[in-house]
Amino acid sequence: MWDSIEVLETVDSTNSLLAKRAAQGAHAGSVLVAEKQTAGRGRLSRSWESPPHAGLAVSMLLRPEVPTARWSWLPLLAGVATCQTIVDLCGVPAALKWPNDVLVGARLDKCSGILAEIAAGGVVLGIGLNVTLAREELPRADTTSLALAGAVETDRGTLLEGLLERIAAWYANWRATEGDPQASGLADAYTLRCHTLGLNVTVSLPDGAVITGVASAIDADGRLCVETEDGPVAVAAGDVYHVR
Ligand code: BTN
Repeated sequence: MWDSIEVLETVDSTNSLLAKRAAQGAHAGSVLVAEKQTAGRGRLSRSWESPPHAGLAVSMLLRPEVPTARWSWLPLLAGVATCQTIVDLCGVPAALKWPNDVLVGARLDKCSGILAEIAAGGVVLGIGLNVTLAREELPRADTTSLALAGAVETDRGTLLEGLLERIAAWYANWRATEGDPQASGLADAYTLRCHTLGLNVTVSLPDGAVITGVASAIDADGRLCVETEDGPVAVAAGDVYHVR
């Protein structure tokens, strides 16, 4: 399904460049990889550090022929595929923090994040993975790299191949069921790996409100259901903190 895989030495952001190319008619399945990003972007307007040759910064353009209401599952699909790649190839435990932070190692620190953006009628799905970053290169104490977590595989080419293979497999299942998270098995695969479920959480919502409660389920739209003192809330976007 991958139309072309282009590797660039330096780019501001693979997501930004691929969005521009999408507007110029780039094909679905176009993949951009950067050795270094100078202005990598994360969710909720954050930045994403991509020091040269130490991580994987990859974006792919998808034009799913399924109802747009179901596109919210795409970043979750990428999270499942990233988690699987890490467990299968690196031999370290991995889990998801809703919506799609990938946590690894005994302390379950973040090693990967996903940014999905609508562009020119398609979706640019960007994945950042800390592969060999040293402790001093990491932005926060609760982040890590695969190497620091004890991964047996840290070759970035091998990891990229494994990741694209697993995304393609899930994408094919999901499209074949018109994006149905249940029928494609995606909802179960996500739930199985989601560390957030069952925990007490605090969630900062995009409008600045903060809610607390127990994360109880993922709904049909991929939203996180939180049981608060004031009743259930379905969260479509926000920053989740696991209360340990
Ligand atoms: C997050 O955890 O907030 C998401 C981080 C996503 C980073 C990736 S790196 C490749 C792609 N290009 C970007 O500018 N961002 C994504």
